[in-house]
Amino acid sequence: MQGSKLMTNGAAGFQSRVFSGMQPTHTLHLGNYLGALTRWVEMQATHECIYCVVDMHAITIQHDPADLTRSIREVTAAYLAAGVDPKRSILFNQSQVAEHAELTWVFNCVARLGWLNRMTQFKEKAGKDRENASIGLYDYPVLMAADILVYKATHVPVGEDQKQHLELTRDIAQKFNNDYSAAIAARGFGEQFFPLTEPVIGGPAARVMSLRDGGKKMSKSDPSDYSRINLTDDADAIAQKIRRAKTDPEALPSEEKGLDARPEADNLVGIFAALKGATKQQVLDEFGGAQFSTFKSALVDLSIAKLSPITAEMRRLLADPAEIDRILCDGADRARAIASATVRDVKDIVGFVQKR
Ligand code: TYM
Repeated sequence: MQGSKLMTNGAAGFQSRVFSGMQPTHTLHLGNYLGALTRWVEMQATHECIYCVVDMHAITIQHDPADLTRSIREVTAAYLAAGVDPKRSILFNQSQVAEHAELTWVFNCVARLGWLNRMTQFKEKAGKDRENASIGLYDYPVLMAADILVYKATHVPVGEDQKQHLELTRDIAQKFNNDYSAAIAARGFGEQFFPLTEPVIGGPAARVMSLRDGGKKMSKSDPSDYSRINLTDDADAIAQKIRRAKTDPEALPSEEKGLDARPEADNLVGIFAALKGATKQQVLDEFGGAQFSTFKSALVDLSIAKLSPITAEMRRLLADPAEIDRILCDGADRARAIASATVRDVKDIVGFVQKR
């Protein structure tokens, strides 16, 4: 498994543990699925995994409460339908485990303003009207570090767009370990209290691009629904979106380097490869020289074959919201058991007085 190969000294000595999350701000799309969710499912075979619906992140921008509730259940249904097993892994929503917020406060006092000022996602999301952005949106990456480190997670499978946030997570862990090194050692934790978590990013779909513009990431916030395939799209919608996807006039190349400077072709080949569990070169071995009309037909068939069962299973699960809520509450209890031990130790290390 790639995750284990990525293990470096920073995470050595820690029990190997996976954490990741998605925001319930929208219906999940193919980028979320191929960039992260498929990897999450695979990692369950080799790692202890904790998967979270990060609802506290979702209120950093304006939201409708009823939509948020619906979206938390829908994202949970997508995790389950894609193959996250709530018996084997822990599956919960963030706001039910208060320790995420508690650790965030301590990390707010560790992280530096200069570090947050460099976060490109804040700049993108806040846009020109920065003064009007919520403090939560600015602090978002610190909450994300707390999500990960409250479980001392060693591996975080995500798409490429989360790389900078994971670097910040490592910076916060490192600074906490340094700032409190004496207290950490005195309490018998050795040199490091928090691991330096490894991002697990890779494969042909680490960055799935818009179907309308190969230079833009596939994203929930794109105003055109034709730019993305949603996990709730039916077979007709999937077929239409792929047929309308932007391409160039050339036939597909036979070698991967022939995709350079052809972002739309590169994206569709990457999507095909990820759905099939193949490499881009293997896809080109089959389709090199083919016109897009032929390739798109094959991509439509493959996409429908892979995604329709997930959509159907999501629909089935969503018919019983009480069962989804039960799974989330059960997961939250199990998550809290780990998180509360970490926060207790952190309070000791920092010097807070607490009940013994
Ligand atoms: P979010 O909700 O934007 O996205 C969820 C996951 O999907 C990946 N992703 C993509 N991958 C490939 N191509 C794309 N076009 C694409 N779009 C999204 C993201 O990289 C992510 O893995 N900050 C996180 C949520 C979060 C989190 C965490 C993740 C909060 N705390 C702790 C990991 C660990 C986010 O906004 O993801």
